[in-house]
Amino acid sequence: MVSPKYHVFVCASCRINGTQKGFCHSKGSVALIQKFMEEIDDNDLTGEVMVTNTGCFGICDKGPVVVIYPEGTWYGNVTEDDVETIVEQHLIGGEKVKDLVI
Ligand code: FES
Repeated sequence: MVSPKYHVFVCASCRINGTQKGFCHSKGSVALIQKFMEEIDDNDLTGEVMVTNTGCFGICDKGPVVVIYPEGTWYGNVTEDDVETIVEQHLIGGEKVKDLVI
């Protein structure tokens, strides 16, 4: 398996027992995961970008939280509309979306 160029972690507020409870989840983070998958598919980035849902990052008041590696960029208050911007500007263009960085 080839390592992806980018790994996108989306907080889905997963708890250790598998339930999804918490701030990011209540603010629609699961829909963000779906939106990332759609944008990655639409832009032929499958294989270059991996998306993983995660548990709480501990900064719930900034949620929904998205973290992108290898840079270790943390984005906060991410909306579905922001996903397209992140994909175009960060994952394709290689530039951070400064307004969303936390
Ligand atoms: S639930 Fe997402 S950062 Fe805490």
